[in-house]
Amino acid sequence: MRATVEQFEEAKSRMSSLKQDPGNDVKLKIYALFKQSTLGPCTTPRPGMLDFINKAKWDAWKALGETPQEDARQQYCDLIGSLVSAEGGSVAAKPSGSASAQYETLLVTTEDKITTIKLNRPAKKNAITTVMYDEIVTALEQAGKDNSVLTVFTGAGDFYCSGNDLTNFTKIPDGGVELMAKQAGELLRKYVKAYIDFPKPLVAVVNGPAVGISVTALGLFDLVYATERATFHTPFSQLGQSAEGCSSYTFPKIMGNAKASEMLLFNKKLTAAQACDFGLVTEVFPDSSFNSEVWTRLKSYAALPPNSLALSKQLIRSTERERLHAVNDAEVELLVERWTSDECFTAIMNFFQSKAKL
Ligand code: COA
Repeated sequence: MRATVEQFEEAKSRMSSLKQDPGNDVKLKIYALFKQSTLGPCTTPRPGMLDFINKAKWDAWKALGETPQEDARQQYCDLIGSLVSAEGGSVAAKPSGSASAQYETLLVTTEDKITTIKLNRPAKKNAITTVMYDEIVTALEQAGKDNSVLTVFTGAGDFYCSGNDLTNFTKIPDGGVELMAKQAGELLRKYVKAYIDFPKPLVAVVNGPAVGISVTALGLFDLVYATERATFHTPFSQLGQSAEGCSSYTFPKIMGNAKASEMLLFNKKLTAAQACDFGLVTEVFPDSSFNSEVWTRLKSYAALPPNSLALSKQLIRSTERERLHAVNDAEVELLVERWTSDECFTAIMNFFQSKAKL
């Protein structure tokens, strides 16, 4: 049996409440299993010989070799479970109706009147698979109806999101590339629609680099907070594709045609500071204090009167809603054509070939 994401989260929280110090060897094992569960095998450079603590941690992680993430997660839960039992407690999964239980690719939590949707494929830089697109739509629908005041979108690990998972294009159904493109188009339309129609303030907490649709969709958020480490890249023409997420409309409106074209046509990657200067990002924070500063701010915003916030957001969106739906339709139509093009096929094959050479 393998631990669910929810059991893993529960084990993490029990770990921090352990009363007795488990000892250094066990702590290293916990550290290593945690890293392997969330990031996969250790590929970071070995710390120097005199950096004893980090070297010990690195050795413990490296020792797990190619242990699959799911197995590491189970071992992590088992280990924490044994420590908790030794203290007379138990690690129990939360009731199955709780938010995160139903998602394979997301961690969804509600705390302090804030629902957080966290992309949870850190080993793949949170690239969005077809399952993940569907799960995000469901998570947004539920967050729109729950008791939270704000909804936050963020990523697990060092990336915010690397955009569309390019393996989505390698799963060709019996109906051929045309059917694949048509189905992907419908999924994209539904995905972007969920952002356009989202009824409450939506906040992006951009914890690292962002690529593709995770950047274009930012034009549909109400606040975008970024760490200084974040970058913003939309390499559509490089991939033989075209803009989505309503960015063909929102980007020129936010930053002017000249800057938008540099991003959407010519693949210009922005730093967080540039994205903030251009108006795509609300504010940039030092990486070291990013989480504490942003979450303190968000908790204070979540204490504002909820109806006033939601109704004001809906008022602002209402002036553009129909136009945004029309833009979404037009973008999807062009992309469905692009996805069947030789240019796109060649570019995606090149990406996977370049990875295979590494
Ligand atoms: N689709 C599919 N797989 C992706 C991915 C994506 N969008 N982004 C990252 N991955 C995978 C990599 O193939 C790699 O898989 P592997 O460990 O099995 O080899 C893993 O995630 C880690 O990525 P890696 O490339 O090793 O990390 P990096 O830090 O060197 O580079 C990126 C990160 C995001 C810059 C690079 O992976 C990339 O350019 N990805 C494609 C982004 C993209 O074009 N998205 C679509 C935009 S329209």
